[in-house]
Amino acid sequence: MRQRISLRLAFQLALLALAPAFLAAQDLIPVPSQMKVSGGRVVLGPATRLVAEGDARPVAERLRAYLQPATGLPLAIQERGREKQGGRDAVLLTLDPEASALGPEGYRLEAADGRIEIRAPKPAGLFYGIQTLRQLLSREVFRQAKADGVSWSVPACVIEDRPRFPWRGSHLDVGRHFLPKDFIKKHLDLMALHKLNVFHWHLTEDQGWRLEIKKYPKLTEVGAWRKETVLPVYWKADFAGQRLFDGTPHGGFYTQEDAKEIVAYAAERFITVVPEIEMPGHSTAAIAAYPELGNFPDRKVEVGTAWGVFRSTYGVEDSNIQFLKDVLDEVMAVFPSTTIHIGGDECPKSEWARSERALARMKREGMVPATATLADLQAYRNEKGELAEHPALHKLQAWFIRQVDAYLASKGRRLMGWSEILEGGLAPNAAVMSWLGEDAGIQAAKAGHDVVMAPESHTYFDYYQAKGNEPLAIGGFTPLEKAYGYDPMPAGLDAAQQRHILGVQGQLWTEFVSTPAKAEYMIWPRLAALAEVGWSPKGKRDPREFLGRLRVHLKRLDVLAVNYRPLDGAQSLPR
Ligand code: ACM
Repeated sequence: MRQRISLRLAFQLALLALAPAFLAAQDLIPVPSQMKVSGGRVVLGPATRLVAEGDARPVAERLRAYLQPATGLPLAIQERGREKQGGRDAVLLTLDPEASALGPEGYRLEAADGRIEIRAPKPAGLFYGIQTLRQLLSREVFRQAKADGVSWSVPACVIEDRPRFPWRGSHLDVGRHFLPKDFIKKHLDLMALHKLNVFHWHLTEDQGWRLEIKKYPKLTEVGAWRKETVLPVYWKADFAGQRLFDGTPHGGFYTQEDAKEIVAYAAERFITVVPEIEMPGHSTAAIAAYPELGNFPDRKVEVGTAWGVFRSTYGVEDSNIQFLKDVLDEVMAVFPSTTIHIGGDECPKSEWARSERALARMKREGMVPATATLADLQAYRNEKGELAEHPALHKLQAWFIRQVDAYLASKGRRLMGWSEILEGGLAPNAAVMSWLGEDAGIQAAKAGHDVVMAPESHTYFDYYQAKGNEPLAIGGFTPLEKAYGYDPMPAGLDAAQQRHILGVQGQLWTEFVSTPAKAEYMIWPRLAALAEVGWSPKGKRDPREFLGRLRVHLKRLDVLAVNYRPLDGAQSLPR
């Protein structure tokens, strides 16, 4: 026993001796596909120039903007033509079409002989290379003022790196709580640091419509504001129907100019902003603004003040579809993303089952016989004899989504929706975001549709991340280890089907998140774990080793003033 202990001690001492090179190398998140560290370091100093030309130049400018505040170095940008090959004191950003084997987002970083070269076939790869370079430097590099007494150097190394998946997303619900533009920019910066590339912006909800639509001004004049918000303990209304509210109005929206600013800010960081406009459910705020959008225009609804699934849904008249096309026209003019998310989740069919106009649509489209009545729809029982949604109502939902799918496709865009868009049959061009487990994603991939895996079990960051004294969450339990352990690639798909699994995404729903500080608490570090799931080779992932790297990485997030959840629990509890 004694001998075993001393052997272990000797081993640990040996590891410690190797530590300086290894530690710096292994603290990268996400971990690169391949990395070899050799001895020595490459120092950035007053003579260091950035060498870039053409489409590499904006990446060099970004690198200079990243490095200059803390280092105070001049980091002049020069074109390669004026720079001797092989020169020292340079960071070379080289676009190299011959390096296409690295893929559209891959890069090779070599630090040796007094210089650093990042080579990539595309600017995105150079951009991910500079994210790695930032992490290789002392964490003081993340300061926004000159940090004195720091040696700006990286270990001599060769890194070859490329993402496992092309869709590495972060979703943010700004419907339940409006979150300010500056917070979103900070979040985009953090996404870039973690090599995430899709910001899924959930812009409309029962409780708030958050995007200016010029043709329908009441969407924000009315729909962006609620008169109050249910107090958390009452949200399930299980106190004999009693609910208490905070009596405080809440709201806000982004003008189209705000949204364009976000899109441009994201694009500079190689992030695509995918907007989500919810339909046919989660549409109470829009119907509060324009009652004719609902199934019962004489019935007034208010912008939602509580949580849960609301009964209001869009009607199925041509005018309803036209409204959504008009909205999407403005959305497409602001958001260049090919993918446009239309929600499609949690749409109760109870209004359609009570609407003569919906019944007429179902008859016209041949979904029910001409003799069908609303009573038939409402009395439907499934094979177990339970009252259930009539299959024709699912067909009606599928019809609704097909109209929008065809419209988006005619404009060169591609519809994406949550799991439930499979109900009644998937629209021909649709992509699926699988949140109710992976089944919808697997079915869609097998049918040749693209899929993003976002199962609530592993990727919902509105769930608790620890037991015990944690800030209020909506429920669930998704500790860091669980997010880290997720594998987006389901078993049982052939190679062609696997190519339809575009990637993975973390979700933040904000019923109980009303401030940027709490949003960061819920998102980080779980999103760092998921970033590695999306980027790094599966075989490179090791939960214990990740935790070691994460401890160092969290110190970077400290410098960046990110209110992440500390690994050993909350020190202060953000509301
Ligand atoms: C969802 O969580 N309703 C997509």
